[in-house]
Amino acid sequence: MHKQTVLTGITTTGTPHLGNYVGAIRPAIEASRDAHVNSYYFLADFHALIKCHDPAKVHQSALEVAATWLALGLDVEKSVFYRQSDIPEITELTWILTCVTAKGLMNRAHAYKAAVQLNEEEKSTDPDKGISMGLYSYPVLMAADILMFNANTVPVGRDQVQHLEMTRDIAQRFNHHFGEHFVLPEARVDESTAVLTGLDGRKMSKSYNNYIPLFVPEKNLRKLIMKIVTNSQAPEEPKATTNCALFDMYKAFATSEQVADMAAKFATGIGWGQVKQELFELVNGQLHDAREQYAELVKHPAHIESILRQGAVKAREYSVPFMHKIRRAVGIAPLGA
Ligand code: TRP
Repeated sequence: MHKQTVLTGITTTGTPHLGNYVGAIRPAIEASRDAHVNSYYFLADFHALIKCHDPAKVHQSALEVAATWLALGLDVEKSVFYRQSDIPEITELTWILTCVTAKGLMNRAHAYKAAVQLNEEEKSTDPDKGISMGLYSYPVLMAADILMFNANTVPVGRDQVQHLEMTRDIAQRFNHHFGEHFVLPEARVDESTAVLTGLDGRKMSKSYNNYIPLFVPEKNLRKLIMKIVTNSQAPEEPKATTNCALFDMYKAFATSEQVADMAAKFATGIGWGQVKQELFELVNGQLHDAREQYAELVKHPAHIESILRQGAVKAREYSVPFMHKIRRAVGIAPLGA
């Protein structure tokens, strides 16, 4: 059987949180253990520049995101773990793809349209106010990330599905014109992976600032869990497990027996304080060792750097010869050869 390639990128803005862990990092690390797949995981640091112009933050986030994956046990022998900016072929491919991408396609990108809409709502005279070319052509850079390694499957959140459709569209146009070079990738949106609710009741997200960082010290983890909003039901009242942020979070970490036990307690009545305490113990138990690993890793950035460099070497075993073919396909080649 031909090995499938699974690839996903993590934008390096901010600190990974519990929602990122259960929704993306944990399933990706599990998938990387499957001997039937080649997995490519990378730090999307060029994507970070689209949203963040604070160099210290971008730099620190790259360290934190890389350390997070390593602390949680990503096997860098079995997977290819690299930093986007270490693969110059990706930016090269971005330009080539930019030249076959319809401008109209980019006009329809959700992120761009949302920014324009905001300007219109604010009655700005310029609908493109504050919108950089980076934001506008963001989907092309993402297409290059994916097509560079001919990924078959791209696990992403629902908000990224349109980018995958655009990637397929761009790949098709290229293939039609220059020959069948690119595989058409599929998005994989896993409905079963948990989407955690944040402290305020909305989806846990960096943008809402309602998240629990993955590796906060134990004391702060407890404090943050205690802050999750609940209703005012008394301890002895039976409680619904549906639409309950605490129950969902518990479920995202617990075994099926633990879930059944907790559901039984909800049915007979358990105080929110008690639920929070049990949730804290469960989450803390699972993150404890990784948190210690993480603290060690961030103290040794040079070690992480060397892992990323080795990852880049592996990634470029594929990207360098492939880019060579792509250059030839479009007519960029040595003269007389
Ligand atoms: N845009 C993605 C996000 O914000 C991150 C990303 C960049 C990515 N390049 C990618 C995801 C390639 C999958 C494949 O979540």
